[in-house]
Amino acid sequence: MVAVRRGDVTATLAAGESVLDGLARHGVTLPSSCRAGACQSCLVRAVAGTPPPAAQQGLREGLRRQGYFLACCARPQEDLELAEGDADLDVEATVTVLDRLAPDVVRVGLRPARSLGHRAGQFVTVTPPGGPSRAYSIASASDAPELELHVRAIPGGAVSGWLAERARVGDRVTLRGPAGECFYVAGRAEQPLLLAGTGTGIAPLFGLLQDALREGHRGRIVVVHGSVAREGQYLETSLAALAAAHAQLEVHHAVLQGEPGCAPGAHARCSVWGGSIASVVASVVPSPKGFNITLCGDPSVVAGMRRALFLAGAALTEIRADAFLPSAA
Ligand SMILES: Cc1cc2nc3c(=O)[nH]c(=O)nc-3n(C[C@H](O)[C@H](O)[C@H](O)COP(=O)(O)OP(=O)(O)OC[C@H]3O[C@@H](n4cnc5c(N)ncnc54)[C@H](O)[C@@H]3O)c2cc1C
Ligand code: FES
Repeated sequence: MVAVRRGDVTATLAAGESVLDGLARHGVTLPSSCRAGACQSCLVRAVAGTPPPAAQQGLREGLRRQGYFLACCARPQEDLELAEGDADLDVEATVTVLDRLAPDVVRVGLRPARSLGHRAGQFVTVTPPGGPSRAYSIASASDAPELELHVRAIPGGAVSGWLAERARVGDRVTLRGPAGECFYVAGRAEQPLLLAGTGTGIAPLFGLLQDALREGHRGRIVVVHGSVAREGQYLETSLAALAAAHAQLEVHHAVLQGEPGCAPGAHARCSVWGGSIASVVASVVPSPKGFNITLCGDPSVVAGMRRALFLAGAALTEIRADAFLPSAA
C-alpha cells in the first residue's frame, strides 16, 4: 500500500489509483482539468519520496529536478509527501484585451506581473478568481509585450464561458507555465515546416509562425487551418497578410462543410478547400519526409494526422503536437 501525505491528510492509494483520485477520495481536491497528462493543471511537488518518472514526462527539467509531477497520472511505487502550496509558480496577470475574432472565439490579452519566459506556441494554465484552471496556447510572438490567447467560447464552460461573457478588462487571473513544445526551434532555417491545426488550434501555430518569420526561416512553410464552417477561419486576413509579405509561406483553409475542390483565397499563396484538414494536408504535403511538423487542436484529429503523416514518411521525432483535451469533469 502506498501512502500520499499532504498537510494533515494521508491518503492510502488503492491499486492503480492516481494521486489525484486518491487525495480526492480523502477530501483533498487538487486543481485538474484533462486528467490525462496534457494540461499540467494538476502539477504538485513531492518534498519526500520519488515521483514516478511517467508523471514527470513533458515537464521542464527545472520542475522535474524540484520534484514536481502531474498528480493525474502519478501511480507511485513508494510513499510521497507533497508540498501544500506552490504559489511561487503562479504569476498574476491583468486582462488587457477581450474582443471577438469570430462569433465563438475570443481574443484575450494578458499582461503578466513578471515575465513567464515563454515561447510562442507554448501553453499556460489560466485560473480566474475562484475558478478552475484550464490550459490555453500562446498566439502572440515570443517577444510581444503581452500574451494573446484565442479562446473558443463553450456554452456553460467554466473558464471559456467566464472569459467570453463575464470577464472585464482590468480583471486579474492567475497564470502558470509555460509548458509544451510547440514552439519554433531556431537553427534549421531551410527545413520545411508544416503547421496544421483545427479551430483555436491555429493560435499556437500563429505564434510559432510569427517567430519563424521573424527569425528568418527560409524553408517552405505550409499552414493548414481546419474549421467546420467558413466563419471558423478567423485568422484568414492576418495569414493572408503574412503570405503576401513572405514568399516561403503558403496558407490553406480546410472547411469541412465547404464546397468540394480548391478555390483561391485572400492571396495568391492562399487557398480554400472543402473537406477535412487531414485530406487537405495529404493533398498539399503528400510526402512529409523531412518536414518539421506541429499539430494542434481537436484531440482525435491531431492523433489521426500524426498517424497519417508518420505512415506517409514523416519522422515521429519531427512531429510535435498539443491535443486540446477538454476537462474530464
Ligand atoms: C495543452 C492544451 C492547450 C489548449 N489550448 C487551448 C486554446 O488555445 N484555445 C482554446 O479555446 N482551448 C484550448 N484548450 C482547451 C481548454 O483548456 C479548455 O478545455 C476549454 O476552454 C474548455 O474549458 P471550460 O472550462 O470553458 O469548459 P468546461 O467547464 O471544462 O467544460 C464544460 C462542458 O463543455 C464540454 N467541453 C469542453 N471542451 C469542449 C470542446 N472542445 N468541445 C465540446 N465540448 C467541450 C465539457 O465536456 C463539459 O461538458 C487547450 C487544452 C489543452 C490540454
Ligand atoms: S495534466 Fe493532470 S489534469 Fe491535465
